[in-house]
Amino acid sequence: MDAELVIVADAEALAREAAQRIVGLAHEAVAARGLFSAALSGGSTPGALYRLLAKEPTRSQIPWAQVHLFWADERCVPPDDAGSNYWSAYQALIAHVPIPPENVHRVRGELAPEAAARAYEREMRRFFRGRRPDFDLVLLGLGSDGHTASLFPNSGSLAETERLAVATTADYSNRPAKRVTLTLPALNAARQILFLVSGLEKAEIVRAVFEDVEGRLPARRVRPAAGQLTWLVDATAAALVPNGLPLGPLTVIKKRL
Ligand code: 6PG
Repeated sequence: MDAELVIVADAEALAREAAQRIVGLAHEAVAARGLFSAALSGGSTPGALYRLLAKEPTRSQIPWAQVHLFWADERCVPPDDAGSNYWSAYQALIAHVPIPPENVHRVRGELAPEAAARAYEREMRRFFRGRRPDFDLVLLGLGSDGHTASLFPNSGSLAETERLAVATTADYSNRPAKRVTLTLPALNAARQILFLVSGLEKAEIVRAVFEDVEGRLPARRVRPAAGQLTWLVDATAAALVPNGLPLGPLTVIKKRL
């Protein structure tokens, strides 16, 4: 499969480029299927993007009534806790746009992890009517250990083949440890996966992911079966990506905007 690596100048350009792509994807999806389903990610990187989507001129360019929001992962905390991915997206985006509340399909982080994962899986199976969860967009971040969503290195959840969401535990950067994550089969059913990565502190791990031909790192195992894979990376985070990229099962098409 092909992956696109798009390198932009800085964090601001990253948010702008992602916002433009989301406007385009939302219109295409609504024209083709009548709705736009997107799974958001947590962490600090997408905050600027969420704020941009909530502001004019982007806000009016998105058909909010047809947008359905899900999450790639969630921390098991109440929905108004500072550690909640739903809460971060709510404050930066959802509170400011005319999305119908029933279109916001959050993970119920206030439940026990296994119950929250099961409830979220039921919600996805209901929404996708038993089809694979072919999200129009899954936004993902990259942890400095190579995790993405809440799929951490060496975690048993990487081996999941049936379930769409599982409970998991990980200590990372003083963030809540109990989590619910989409599994690889759920992520890899997406029509479009967009990684957003910014900052010098990610440069080593970005290089490691692109050199990881064997797929040891969770982020490298995200390979949509029929969809598009795009890495949107700012110049400092992409600084160590070698010029002659390794090929392996992934052909990387490098662009600089
Ligand atoms: C989470 C995430 C996680 C995140 C990375 C990168 O809930 O913690 O979804 O996978 O995207 O840890 O986080 P930063 O953007 O803060 O570096």
